[in-house]
This record gives sequence, C-alpha cells and structure tokens, in this order.
Amino acid sequence: MMLITFDQLSSIYDFLMYPIERKILQKWREHLWNEIKGSRILEVGAGTGVNFRFYPDDKFIVAVDISPNMLHKARSKGKYNLVVGDVLSLPFGDDSFDAVVSTLVFCSVKDPLRGLDEIKRILRKGGFLYMLEHVRPRGWKGRVFDMLNPLSVWIMEEHINRNTHEIVKAAGFRILEIKDITSDGLFKYLVARYIG
Ligand SMILES: C[S@@+](CC[C@H](N)C(=O)[O-])C[C@H]1O[C@@H](n2cnc3c(N)ncnc32)[C@H](O)[C@@H]1O
Repeated sequence: MMLITFDQLSSIYDFLMYPIERKILQKWREHLWNEIKGSRILEVGAGTGVNFRFYPDDKFIVAVDISPNMLHKARSKGKYNLVVGDVLSLPFGDDSFDAVVSTLVFCSVKDPLRGLDEIKRILRKGGFLYMLEHVRPRGWKGRVFDMLNPLSVWIMEEHINRNTHEIVKAAGFRILEIKDITSDGLFKYLVARYIG
C-alpha cells in the first residue's frame, strides 16, 4: 500500500518539479523530442503533460498514464490523445507505434521488465524507445539511495535505486545511446531499439 499516490500529488507535481525542470530536465526533454524518429508515438506515464510543449506537430502522439488526476492536469495543457492505462497492460494492439517515450516513469512501475515487454509488444519491430529516467547514482550517493529505497517504495512505490538502463538491456532492447546527464549518473538519457 502506498502512502502517497500520483493522483494525490497531481495538483502540486509541476510546482514540486519546477527547480529540477529548469536546472536539468527541460533541455533534455527538448533534445529527446527533437531527436525522435517515426510518425506514431506513444508517451507512457505522461503525467501532467510536462512534455506536451515539446511534441512535434507532424506526428500522431498518444499519451497514456495510470493516474486519472495526472491526466486531468495534462488535459489543461492542450488537446492531445490522452488515455488512462497501465504500462503493464497497454490498451493498444501489437506493432501500433514507431517509438515510445518514457520520462521519469520506470522508477515507479511495479514490474519494469513486464512493462518493457508490453512496450515491445506495441512497438513495431525496429521501433525506438526514448527514455529520460533517474536511476541509482554512482558512489556514496548510490549507497544512500540503497538505504532510503525501502522507505521511498513504502511511501510512494518509488524505486530510487533501480538501474532502469540495465533492465532495458535485459528486456532485449539494443542500446543505441546512453548519456549521464548529471555527473553522479543519477539522470540518464537513453535511446534503444527493439529489433525483435
Ligand atoms: C514522476 S511522474 C513523471 C511524469 C512525466 N512523465 C514527467 O516526465 O514529468 C511518473 C508518472 O508515471 C505514471 N505511472 C506510474 N506507474 C505507471 C504505470 N504502471 N502505467 C502508466 N503510468 C504509470 C504516474 O501516474 C505518474 O504520472
């Protein structure tokens, strides 16, 4: 059981994230959406729609999130195709998308390997996965995150020491690009491809 849910956080999420958005994330979100390949795109865990302002005009994009309240906030940011749904059981057919985007999502997905299998199912063969995720940082910070992880999982199912990039490899994606966007390795930008 979680003490705090994204539904409850939805009204203050953008406010809480503002400093880190300005300092670190915004420019990488822009980079990700500038780089994206394909015409049918799925954003998983779209939350309050922080990425919407970077969505390219020439693509068909669907945004899915498990939290109705987060998507309610997102709705105020523009007219997009928003769907309440779980990445562990996506409401789309096989091979429906050319690319999937996930930003700050896989730390809170209960079963990340299953979520990535679901992404592989709805991606066409050769499709792309773009991620901006926080993972276990290097060095002493990593050890502190290990200690705090049971607490953050208990509070809000937040796995702060999860090495999502390793799980992406284990799921059978081919990593095309991986970049530390902070010197401690906490935030990573990753592009991978599902060859099939
Ligand atoms: C930290 S927020 C990130 C929101 C947004 N992607 C961003 O970059 O600001 C994590 C989001 O993932 C969603 N989420 C968590 N588990 C999910 C799942 N199994 N399926 C779909 N969305 C999920 C949450 O509801 C929340 O909106």
